[in-house]
Amino acid sequence: LKDFDVKNEPILGYKKGSTERNELVKALEEAKSNVADCPIIIGGEEFRTNDVRYQVMPHDHKHQIARFYYADANLIQKAINKSIEMQPKWDRTPLKERVEIWDRAASLMANKYRQKLNAATMLGQSKTAIQAEIDSAAELIDFIRFNVFFLKENAKYQPISEDIKVTKNSVRFRGIDGFVAAISPFNFTAIGGNLSYTPALVGNSVLWKPSDTAVLSNWTIYEIMREAGVPEGVVNFIPADGPIFGDTITKSKYLGGINFTGSVPTFNRLWRQVGENIENYINYPKLIGECGGKNYHFVHPSADIETVVTATIRSAFEYCGQKCSACSRAYIPESLWPKIKEGLLHERAKLKVGDVTDFSTFMGAVIDEKAFNRIKSYIDYAKSSNNLEIIGGGGYDNSKGYFIEPTIVQTKDPKDKIMIEEIFGPVLTIYVYADKDLDSTMKLVGNSTQFALTGAVFSTNESFLKRALEEFKMTAGNFYINDKSTGSVVGQQPFGGSRMSGTNDKAGGPHYAIRWTTIQSIKETF
Ligand code: ALA
Repeated sequence: LKDFDVKNEPILGYKKGSTERNELVKALEEAKSNVADCPIIIGGEEFRTNDVRYQVMPHDHKHQIARFYYADANLIQKAINKSIEMQPKWDRTPLKERVEIWDRAASLMANKYRQKLNAATMLGQSKTAIQAEIDSAAELIDFIRFNVFFLKENAKYQPISEDIKVTKNSVRFRGIDGFVAAISPFNFTAIGGNLSYTPALVGNSVLWKPSDTAVLSNWTIYEIMREAGVPEGVVNFIPADGPIFGDTITKSKYLGGINFTGSVPTFNRLWRQVGENIENYINYPKLIGECGGKNYHFVHPSADIETVVTATIRSAFEYCGQKCSACSRAYIPESLWPKIKEGLLHERAKLKVGDVTDFSTFMGAVIDEKAFNRIKSYIDYAKSSNNLEIIGGGGYDNSKGYFIEPTIVQTKDPKDKIMIEEIFGPVLTIYVYADKDLDSTMKLVGNSTQFALTGAVFSTNESFLKRALEEFKMTAGNFYINDKSTGSVVGQQPFGGSRMSGTNDKAGGPHYAIRWTTIQSIKETF
């Protein structure tokens, strides 16, 4: 990183008695004792419709923490109109001014509002303090700072001018005519900030539809960006029913792009709708999608057992397996299985599930009832199938919060649906392969699912690692050697998947912000 004039935000430890912990406890108390009002915002104007919704705490689902309002099609259209009006004005704002606003926002997030953001993420999305810190403090701030840095670096690039006295060639970047729709997920507060504010940074105007289950943290970002000086109307805050939002934006001829993170079916639906309306647009809309995953850990007989156990427990169960990068299938050689099994079961038994405001909790609740029911159905399926055995966990209880035990399943069939379908919860399935079947098992990794988001391989054998690098090239957008499949860091491991995991535009990488620009090439002749 020594050549960069930007650094990753340090992650705070939240040790007992630390200043950050004391501040966080206060912020949690404040957020808990309140039902925050989060209106729709269009061009700075607040709207509250009759379609009132509440965000609850997943680990205590009778407790409401935020009230929000669904925008109907008319309001969404109003936001589109406002965005179109704002875009050319905003686009003319010098890059320097825009960058100053984003720098100010990053400082506000790092200092004044760090614990407010963390508290909103912990309570609303059931993240532990450290998981919230990684997300709504460090990653969010990093996205802002690194995208600014990469944008400035990209703007420095100019094409060749053979004789500057005769001809000067240059390129310049601008935002896309029309508007960009940002549709963000619940699982990372930082992704909400990145999806909406990166297109805005480069000169677009944005309609931001946050996830219903992340409204409070996303609203907190929204308020901070306003305080930092983002002009009203550049980003509009539009909680809405998904299909109504999708239908309205894709019908508008001014749709310039969709910045999406969520499920494959939803992204496919949006893509189809764009296709149906293609004759109608003034631009080809840019579609960026981060979709699903069925991420793997592949263990070679030469692997270090402790490394495998620690990495697999963390990847599969941190944040209840709800990171898009979480490991949900593992391939383990027979020769190492007894020791790895012992290690996994030992570590699994120590994981504390419960209220995330208790600092000793490892896992909170899964996000909502729908997720609880989906994950439960896979656990019930594992209980009833002859191919599958639950070797750890398997319990669930939604009486107070949507709690699911970290669950480890062993499968006899590497092609069982539990090894193929995305579960998005704390369920890890293991296939134990005979060491002699190494080659055929490696083939299964890439061939058995439609996804290619993250994957990790564990081995101490260099020639095997070289082979794995080659053979696993198509299996993951983010590939790890001897480390867990989660935890990419902005600026260090640009993040994104290929195949049906997404358009692989690499959030946190040098080419992300630039994807949201449109470029003019200029030749001046003297
Ligand atoms: N950036 C997140 C991770 O890698 C998704 O876990």
